[in-house]
Amino acid sequence: MADIRAFVCGDPIKHSRSPLIHGYWLNRYKINGSYQAVQVSVENLPIFIKNLHEDGWAGGNFTIPHKQSVFDQLEDLDDAARAIGAVNTVWSESGKLYGGNTDAYGFAANLGAQVPMWRDAETAIVFGAGGAARAVIFALLKAGVAQIIVVNRTIERAEVMAQSFGKTVSAMTWQDITSKLQHADLLINTTSLGMDGQPDFPLDLAGARGDAIASDIVYVPLETPFLLMAKKRGLQTSDGLGMLLHQATPGFEKWFGQKPEVDEALRQVIIDDL
Ligand code: ATR
Repeated sequence: MADIRAFVCGDPIKHSRSPLIHGYWLNRYKINGSYQAVQVSVENLPIFIKNLHEDGWAGGNFTIPHKQSVFDQLEDLDDAARAIGAVNTVWSESGKLYGGNTDAYGFAANLGAQVPMWRDAETAIVFGAGGAARAVIFALLKAGVAQIIVVNRTIERAEVMAQSFGKTVSAMTWQDITSKLQHADLLINTTSLGMDGQPDFPLDLAGARGDAIASDIVYVPLETPFLLMAKKRGLQTSDGLGMLLHQATPGFEKWFGQKPEVDEALRQVIIDDL
C-alpha cells in the first residue's frame, strides 16, 4: 500500500509540535505513512490547497495564519469549525476537501480524561475572549453547561463573544469577577497569562469553591501559576498539554484510519521537547 501523507501547514511552522505527536502514533501503530511540517505563505495558500490531492496529501492540519483563510476553499465544514470560525483539520471524502475544528473536542476529551466529573458542571467562568476561548465556550455549551461568564481585559471583546453565543453566556471584567468565583463549577484560563515570558495570572482563587475544577489551556510551563494556585486551594485540575494531544486525534483517525490513544508515553515525548 502506498504511503499515506498528512501535513501541518502554517507560516512559520518550525515551532509546531504536531509532527512529534503524529510521528509517535505512526510509529506506535506501525502505519505506512508520514506527517510533515510544510511552510506555506498566505499568498501561496490557495495554490497549496488547489494542488493538495495532486501532491498526494490525504489531509492535514492548518495553523497560524491559515485557520480562517482556508474556509472559502473547502467543500463543507463541520459544526465546530462553523461556530468557532476557524479550521484546523482538513480531510478528503470522494475527492473533495472538508474542514473541521478539533479544539473544542480536544478540550472536552482532555477534561473528560483528567477530571471525569466535569460533566456534572453547570456553571463556568472562562478567562479570555480570543479564538481559544471561542472553542472552549462551544465545547462547554455542547456539554450542557448552563451558565458561562467570559472575563476579558478588553471587555468589548467579551461582550461580542457572549452575544454571539446567546443568553446563557455573559461578559464581565477581571475586577467584577472576584465576587462571582464561588458560583463557578469550572474555571478555565484561555489567556496567555502564565505562559513562559508572559505576566502571571492576576486573580486570587481564594474565593473559588473547594469542589470547583480548574483547567488551563497553556502548557508551557505544564504547571502554570493558575493551576498551581488552584492545586494549593485543593481544586481538581486539568492541564493544557492534554488538550493539545486530544485535539490531534480526530485528524489522525481520518487520514490514517486508526483511532489513536493519548497515553503517558506520548505526554512524555512532548514534555521532553518543552
Ligand atoms: P487565542 O486565539 O490564542 O485565544 P488571542 O486572540 O490573542 O489568542 O487572545 C488572547 C487572550 O489573552 C485575550 O483574551 C487577551 O485579552 P485582550 O482581548 O484584552 O487582549 C488575553 N490576554 C493576553 N495578554 C493579557 C494580559 N497581559 N492581561 C490580560 N489579558 C491578556
